[in-house]
Amino acid sequence: RRENKRRAEKVEAAEPRNKLPSPASLLPTDPALYSGSFPFYGRPSELGCFSLDAQRQYHGDAQALRYYSPPPTNDQGPHFDLRDGYPDRYQPRDEEVQEGLDHLLRWLLDHRGKLEGGPGWLAGAIVTWRGHLTKLLTTPYEQQEGWQLAASRFQGTLYLSEVETPAARAQRLARPPLLRELMYMGYKFEQYMCADKPGSSPDPSGEVNTNVAFCSVLRSRLGNHRLLFSGEVDCTDPRAPSTQPPACYVELKTSKEMHRPGHWRSFYRHKLLKWWAQSFLLGVPNVVAGFRNPEGFVCSLKTFPTMEMFEYVRNDRDGWNPSVCMNFCAAFLSFAQNTVVQDDPRLVHLFSWEPGSPVTVSKHRDAPYAFLPTWYMEAMTQ
Ligand code: A3P
Ligand code: MG
Ligand code: MG
Repeated sequence: RRENKRRAEKVEAAEPRNKLPSPASLLPTDPALYSGSFPFYGRPSELGCFSLDAQRQYHGDAQALRYYSPPPTNDQGPHFDLRDGYPDRYQPRDEEVQEGLDHLLRWLLDHRGKLEGGPGWLAGAIVTWRGHLTKLLTTPYEQQEGWQLAASRFQGTLYLSEVETPAARAQRLARPPLLRELMYMGYKFEQYMCADKPGSSPDPSGEVNTNVAFCSVLRSRLGNHRLLFSGEVDCTDPRAPSTQPPACYVELKTSKEMHRPGHWRSFYRHKLLKWWAQSFLLGVPNVVAGFRNPEGFVCSLKTFPTMEMFEYVRNDRDGWNPSVCMNFCAAFLSFAQNTVVQDDPRLVHLFSWEPGSPVTVSKHRDAPYAFLPTWYMEAMTQ
């Protein structure tokens, strides 16, 4: 363990850009190494947004944003049938299409001249999806699924784009029917809770099309890392105390109904960590959970304020700690910044991680790992 700690300190010390860590360098992920005080994390500020339509086409506006519209609280509570419409009213997104950072890059191309902080700001930033950062935050506690992140530096900016691991691909292709239906149910819950217009009511009679997405684009800072990232947002609450995004956004989640204290404990240790990481990064203040019974009906709702989630595990020896998550993420970003030194979009450093091991790096050129599209590089070079 002491050896691991020394290695972690070495990674932090290797901060100057011109110092390339030795090719054998590894980043450990043991939680004990990252338990220092909470690092600086700036309040995420929204720079803009975009939407993807039913055909997965990009629009530089908020047309896909939906409005939080919970059922009235005066009657007996909800009775949402999450299996309704499956599979006949389900249009799932084609998961074979690996979009990489493309939609975010399209937004960035359209707004690159108008970024606050001037043209130099982007050159010093890290560009990625919020979902990739979520995986980094939960890494010290993750015991099931590994990840791979491809990294390229272009015009100073460090781009991070996830690569589906062979194991994840195999699992996706062999996804059991019950798991497919469970995925549908998560999106169906959104349909019961969201309206298309501010004053109107949800309409669960239509199709569930998971091509449709509303994405917020934000900037923030973790330690000395400037971040520009985008994340999917489920809905906005027209009655939120602050109408300013991301403070008006609401994250919707489903989970199994729980009946024993042990179920809740496990929920706080595992699921709440993922919910916290996802919403904290983007500055979403509340997660609204729908608890489904074995028949697939949501009969109760509970709001979890993001900033209160840690309280459920604060005194739990087997709980998670936000400082560990954020310190590890900052350490990974430093590690990546120091590893990817050459400014060359055709060069990819692939960071790979499996539970129980440190993060490793391998170097690749062009296909299949290079991920910055030609249209983006050409337009940025003009
Ligand atoms: P639940 O989270 O209610 O299960 P999100 O919560 O991020 O808005 O995602 C919406 C839904 O997409 C999820 O609803 C779930 O059904 C599906 N989903 C998201 N990430 C998934 C994953 N890694 N594996 C399986 N399903 C996923
Ligand atoms: Mg979502
Ligand atoms: Mg959700």
